[in-house]
Amino acid sequence: MWDPVRSKLAAALLKGLKDLPIYEGVKVLYLGASTGTTVSHVSDLLGESGIVFAVEMAPRVAREFLEQVASKRLNVIPIVEDARRPERYRSVFGKVDVVYCDIAQPDQTEIALLNCRRYLSGGGSLLLIVKARSIDALKDPDRVFKEEGEKIEAAGFKIKQLIRLDPFDKDHALISAVWTEQPTS
Ligand SMILES: C[S@@+](CC[C@H](N)C(=O)[O-])C[C@H]1O[C@@H](n2cnc3c(N)ncnc32)[C@H](O)[C@@H]1O
Repeated sequence: MWDPVRSKLAAALLKGLKDLPIYEGVKVLYLGASTGTTVSHVSDLLGESGIVFAVEMAPRVAREFLEQVASKRLNVIPIVEDARRPERYRSVFGKVDVVYCDIAQPDQTEIALLNCRRYLSGGGSLLLIVKARSIDALKDPDRVFKEEGEKIEAAGFKIKQLIRLDPFDKDHALISAVWTEQPTS
């Protein structure tokens, strides 16, 4: 069940996300699978011909994800790894069309870009969930969103939308961006 309180992707769609780059046949690299609520929605959208590589670092959470979601869906490939070490993902083959990142870390943007440089195809999309309080608890969230957006642009992406997820997720935003050139940083 899509629920904007349980899934930030659902919240973003309700708040006006357009041109969702996740649809039938697409390949997605998903960082921060947790127990798999949003991964299950992504899996539904991709259908049998798509695939989602889902990375989760915390062992207990990853176990629940494996048992409840990944083992029941053929288009979900679980990867129990630290997203800071994308070179360790053994099961990702070729490039992906979309990198989706929701890991609530201070360096989440840098981690997302590291994964994009290694796995995202040219013209591919980045969907980045920014949790302002994880980056700077004292700074105005709008300023944090702007600064993270600037990092993405500096790396060769064009921002299509920046959507605040309040009231479903306080001080969170989703940035939707397209890779227009080879990221350099
Ligand atoms: C906010 S939750 C994700 C919720 C999930 N995306 C959803 O919508 O259902 C963040 C998750 O990222 C994971 N995480 C944090 N840092 C990570 C890292 N460096 N590598 C992989 N997973 C990480 C956490 O263990 C946690 O499960």
